[in-house]
Amino acid sequence: MFLAGIRLICIVAMTLSVEGSAASVQARLAALRERAGLEGLDGVLLLPGPNLRYFLGVVTESYERPTLCLLSFRGPSSMLVPRLDLERVRDQLVVEDVELIPYADDEDPWRIVREMLERARLGGCTLGVEGRLPFKTFTRLVGLSPGLSLREVDELFYGLRVVKDEHEVEAHRRASRILQEALRATLREVRVGLEEREVKLLFERNAFALGAESVPFCLVQSGPNAAKPHLEPTERRIRKGDLLVLDAGVTWGGYFADVTRTVCLGEPGEEQRRVFDVVVRAQSEALRHARPGVRAEELDRAARGVIAKHGYGPYFIHRTGHGLGLEVHEEPFIREGSPTALARGMVFTVEPGIYLPGRLGVRLEDNLVVTEQGHENLTYLPKSLRVEDYQ
Ligand code: CO
Repeated sequence: MFLAGIRLICIVAMTLSVEGSAASVQARLAALRERAGLEGLDGVLLLPGPNLRYFLGVVTESYERPTLCLLSFRGPSSMLVPRLDLERVRDQLVVEDVELIPYADDEDPWRIVREMLERARLGGCTLGVEGRLPFKTFTRLVGLSPGLSLREVDELFYGLRVVKDEHEVEAHRRASRILQEALRATLREVRVGLEEREVKLLFERNAFALGAESVPFCLVQSGPNAAKPHLEPTERRIRKGDLLVLDAGVTWGGYFADVTRTVCLGEPGEEQRRVFDVVVRAQSEALRHARPGVRAEELDRAARGVIAKHGYGPYFIHRTGHGLGLEVHEEPFIREGSPTALARGMVFTVEPGIYLPGRLGVRLEDNLVVTEQGHENLTYLPKSLRVEDYQ
């Protein structure tokens, strides 16, 4: 209890600004401009979400009122903002060359977008957009400016975000610490007879109490439910002897941690022990390969090789990991066919699993940062089936 208190104080007392620093936003915008120019783009369109946050330091939501930022390389840049979000966005914007254009609820925002495109001198030009651009926005834009060509450039955006700077890494580290202490606190409270949904509630309470900015997901799968890796918590009550898979995500400063542990509520049986042991070995084999220059697919092969050797190949039904950042799934993806070479500053998960339908599931997930020589594992929780080992 005392130690947990100390940890909480450390997490809260450190102050660090991840976004909003004018220097980092300017540097990111300059890099974006350079890459986009090389790819023949005349501008890019950013929507509320990870890209707007990364390149401009602005956090806002869109819902049904359009919010969009038109970064033009041919004329002035501007951002369309609903009137009710103006103050919030203005407080966060640290660059002066993006004009904020508010609109009221009784105004037609698309008429304003037409003017923004004209002023930005983007008529007949090529605009880079995000793949998740709503179809409605797409058709509106094309309708407003018939010569305008829109090109999906997610690879460009992700390519610029894939290597994290030291502030981003520190945000991941803090998110990861909050997540692990919340898991530890939750594992202290888990009892046979609780519903999976109740365990999720415990985790969320613990994570927020420890300083999480958001708790976007918490999977709690007991017994046979753990063989369905994406199943949301149900009303199933945990039984004695169940394996319990806890896979949770929290953010701090926008950056994700995503950690999974599997424990046994009671004395583990022979099959449970054997499967768990194979997953531990598969994960450590993948971790052994994590260093600059190694291709992402080699980590996947390393983990998969161990699992296949023990006869569980067909039961490892997903890739070995995924990058973490302002999104929970981003580059680099740790899967067969990914030629991405790991580089210093990349942050990703290593999470092999074995799922035996109708019986059990086991997954272990750590978060790594690639360093100059190898990697730093942000995950320090034990890997043990015994709940007591997490106390
Ligand atoms: Co994950």
